[in-house]
Amino acid sequence: MITQMLYTSLSRHPRGHSSDFDILQHAMQNNRDRGVTGYLLRDTDRFCQVLEGPREVLESLYERIHLDPRHYQIVLRMQRDVAERSFLGWSMGYATLSSSDAAILSRCFAGPPRAVLLAFDRVGRIAGVSG
Ligand SMILES: Cc1cc2nc3c(=O)[nH]c(=O)nc-3n(C[C@H](O)[C@H](O)[C@H](O)COP(=O)(O)O)c2cc1C
Repeated sequence: MITQMLYTSLSRHPRGHSSDFDILQHAMQNNRDRGVTGYLLRDTDRFCQVLEGPREVLESLYERIHLDPRHYQIVLRMQRDVAERSFLGWSMGYATLSSSDAAILSRCFAGPPRAVLLAFDRVGRIAGVSG
């Protein structure tokens, strides 16, 4: 079993700031070592990240991410156990969101809880791993 999480947060730094580069570099190395895969999206001021891996590893990673001062208003939107990974091959992918994708994700997060699954699929499509 693999646990998947999807959370959103607000960045303290503007898009293009070196802090994203630092986060990614660290994430790619750490995640590879710990068997974590996923994808980080951002628009002007928001992050949306999917993480997947063994449950204990993911829960302790999420605790650290939650305490990270580079972002705030962190909201865990989804956590579920699945049989296999969706983001195999991505120790941590990264993309900045087009305004249309950002709008679609915002609508999903504003909707009923099941709409988050649409958001999850959308992240997969942006990452090129589904649909
Ligand atoms: C938006 C965001 C996404 C992050 N994603 C990851 C991640 O996928 N993996 C990771 O190890 N750290 C990630 N971090 C960094 C962690 O918050 C934390 O700095 C790091 O895990 C500390 O690792 P260490 O205790 O091994 O030094 C992220 C931070 C932010 C702000």
